[in-house]
Amino acid sequence: MTMNLFDVYPINNISIVKAKGSYVWDDKDVKYLDMYGGHAVISIGHTDPHWVKRIEDQLNQIAFYSNSIKIPLQQQLAEKLGKVSGKEDYQLFLCNSGAEANENALKLASFYNGRKKVIAFSKAFHGRTSLTVAATDNPNIVAPVNQTENVIFLPFNDEAALEECFKNNAKEISAVIIEGIQGVGGINVATTSFLKKIRTFCNENNSVFIADEVQCGYGRSGKFFFADHAGVNADIYTMAKGMGNGFPVGGIIIAPHIKPKHFMLGTTFGGNHLACAAALAVLEVIESENLIQNAQRVGEHLMHELRSIPELQNVRGKGLMIGFDVPEELKDLKKNLLFTHRIFTGEAKPNVIRLLPSLALTIEEADQFLKSIKLEIRNIISSSKLVSQE
Ligand SMILES: Cc1ncc(COP(=O)(O)O)c(C=O)c1O
Repeated sequence: MTMNLFDVYPINNISIVKAKGSYVWDDKDVKYLDMYGGHAVISIGHTDPHWVKRIEDQLNQIAFYSNSIKIPLQQQLAEKLGKVSGKEDYQLFLCNSGAEANENALKLASFYNGRKKVIAFSKAFHGRTSLTVAATDNPNIVAPVNQTENVIFLPFNDEAALEECFKNNAKEISAVIIEGIQGVGGINVATTSFLKKIRTFCNENNSVFIADEVQCGYGRSGKFFFADHAGVNADIYTMAKGMGNGFPVGGIIIAPHIKPKHFMLGTTFGGNHLACAAALAVLEVIESENLIQNAQRVGEHLMHELRSIPELQNVRGKGLMIGFDVPEELKDLKKNLLFTHRIFTGEAKPNVIRLLPSLALTIEEADQFLKSIKLEIRNIISSSKLVSQE
């Protein structure tokens, strides 16, 4: 009898054993272009040499000690994050994942204003822990123990519904949590005007604006936070995926008016030495290689070219967070990109292909993807014509 894995994901029968930049290799040494970034996690590119060295050096010093002592790397990370994000007056709390970041943000908001109600939006995904999954618009993953009446779902980008909800629940709303670009929900982009309205209603009602930047943040949209495109400051930003380039680290940054109290939040592993070294390396490379500008430039190129492919519908997104709808006759496109052209892409149900590559993706790599997708669309269309002639 051997122990088996608890089977929670449908997976591709591929084992990735090596990676570099925007490429990964399987155990048969087949090379793949990674337009999926291991689910938006790879920010500065796989096995970036500076990142590897920083982690190696840190590992040889100390990997972990508890948060009961001073860890100067945490302060260095806070300073660097403040500088790169432009939110220097915010405070950093470190944890280990996106769900944890959102759970802490929602909890902190509730401590701050003493309220219980949270506004979340249709198609939102905020994680799988108790309150984050309750604020996720997918009943299939909400266990009975997670069900709560404290979360109010409103239609995404619907300003009238938001206004009405604040009017009806005036002093009960603890927080509004929103992904500036919904990831799992299929790359839906919040409008500037909607984000501004959230800011206004939160100001008027002493509610907390939580920007879930776990997927769309950390430079992916071509600005450090997506909310920066709207010129709006959130009260709490949550971060994870791109923060460690694959090293598990998450965090929230908190506006100065929200004050800490001892023991209101806490963690064993959050902010450990190794995670801080990885996160510092990521910010150093983002800065020295101008990766945020790169994400904007390469993203614009990709989006422009994708829009010229008539078979792809509703190309949308910002920077290197791009989605498009695939019509029924091209339903094998994602699978064929992977198994014929050796290109990883992401998906969102029912028919969206999502692109979430490293922020260091080059124009040449983007063009390799564009060439392959055009070729594959032609292949699928011509083989379906052949079948219909038979
Ligand atoms: C927007 C968003 N928030 C939160 C999460 C949860 O992050 P994690 O899986 O690290 O808990 C995800 C994960 O996909 C996400 O996309």
